[in-house]
Amino acid sequence: MSRHVVTLIPGDGIGLETSAAMQRVVAASGADIEWELAKAGAACAEECGTPLPDATIEAVKRNKVAIKGPCTTPVGTGFRSVNVALRKTLDLYVCLRPVFSIEGAGGRYNDVDLVIVRENSEDLYAGVEFEEGSQAASDLIAFCKEQDAGVIRSDSGISIKPISITATRNIVRYAFDYAVKHGRKKVTAVHKANIMKYSDGLFLREAREVAKEYEGRVAFDDKIVDAFCMNMVIDPSQFDVVVFPNLYGDIASDLAAGLVGGLGIAPGANIGEEYAVFEAVHGSAPDIAGQDKANPTAEILSAAMMLDHLGELEAARRIREAVRVVYAEGQSLTADIRWATKSDAPAVGCTEFTDALIEAMGKLA
Ligand code: NAI
Repeated sequence: MSRHVVTLIPGDGIGLETSAAMQRVVAASGADIEWELAKAGAACAEECGTPLPDATIEAVKRNKVAIKGPCTTPVGTGFRSVNVALRKTLDLYVCLRPVFSIEGAGGRYNDVDLVIVRENSEDLYAGVEFEEGSQAASDLIAFCKEQDAGVIRSDSGISIKPISITATRNIVRYAFDYAVKHGRKKVTAVHKANIMKYSDGLFLREAREVAKEYEGRVAFDDKIVDAFCMNMVIDPSQFDVVVFPNLYGDIASDLAAGLVGGLGIAPGANIGEEYAVFEAVHGSAPDIAGQDKANPTAEILSAAMMLDHLGELEAARRIREAVRVVYAEGQSLTADIRWATKSDAPAVGCTEFTDALIEAMGKLA
C-alpha cells in the first residue's frame, strides 16, 4: 500500500468535529494517509483576512487531492463563497454526489441508487452579478430594453445565467463516461428548456448531441426540473445517473439526500482534470456546532470516495460496509437519524458514533 499526502481543510462549524471523526475512521481503514492541514472559511477570514488563503490553494495543487469540511458563507454580505472560489480556481467542473439508501438511516425508500452529476462552473453560480442601484445594473437594464430583450424593473439586482456549449458538453460527457465506467444504464438530463430557451435549451440540445456518441451503450432521457422533482419524490429508483446545470443540481442534491435520510449521510466530490476536492453536501450547521451532535457519516463517506479515487479500494469498501453495519444495528446513531427514523431511542454524539464505526470496521472480514 502506498502513502498518500492529502490536503485537509476542516472548514467551519461542525466541520471541525466531522473532519476529526473522518481522520480517525480513515486511519482505522488501513489506508496510509498523511494529512496536510490547510485553512478556509469564516474563522479563517477573521484570522487571516481572507476566507481562502493562497497557501490553501497551493496545498491542494501540490497534493492534487483534498478533503474539505463545510465553510460558512455569511448571507447578504460581500463575502464570496469559498466553495465557489475553490471550484473556479481549481477548475473543478464536476460536482459528483452519489445518493443511495442505507438500511436504518430513515430514508423514505430502500431502493435508491443514483448519482447526481452537477455542472460546477457556470449557471447562476458563475458570480456574474449586478447590485441593485449600481451604474452597471442600470446600464444592463437599459441595454436589455434597447435590445427588446425584456423589461427589468429599475430597482432590480441582477444575476446572469450563462450556460455554455463547452461546459455542457464537458459535464454531460463526464456523466456518460461515469455511467460506462461504473456499469450504469441510463443518463437523465434535467433542465427547464421550455422556459429558458437560450440557456437550458442549449443544455438540452448539447446533452442530446453527446448522448448520440454513447448510443447502444447507455440510454438517455431528459426531464423538466419540476417534473424531475415530483418523479424523485414518487419513485427515485427510476433514476440512475442524472446530469444537471449548476443550480438545479444543487437543489436536487438536498432533495435526494432528504429521501435517503438527510444531509448527515450525503457525501460528495468536486472533480476536475487535475484536482479533486471531496466534501459532504451539508453546510457548517451553526445550530449544532461545537456540541458533539453532528453526524460525521457524510464526510466519512466522502473520504471513502476519496480513497476510491486514490486507488485504495479495499479501505473504501471497509468504511462503507462498516457504515452499513452500524446503521443496520441501530444502536449508535446520531440525533438527525433518530429524528429521520422517528425513533425515541437515545441518540449518540459524533464521537460515540465514530467509536462504534471503528469497532464495526474492526469486526469486518
Ligand atoms: P446546513 O447543511 O449547515 O444545515 C441545515 C440543517 O441540517 C441544520 O439544521 C443542521 O443542523 C443540519 N445538519 C447539516 N449537516 C448535519 C450533520 N452532519 N449532522 C447533523 N445535522 C446536520 O445548511 P445551512 O444552515 O443552510 O448553512 C449553514 C452554513 O453552511 C451557511 O453559511 C452556508 O453557506 C454553509 N454551507 C456550506 C457548504 C459547504 O461548505 N460545502 C454547503 C452548504 C452550506
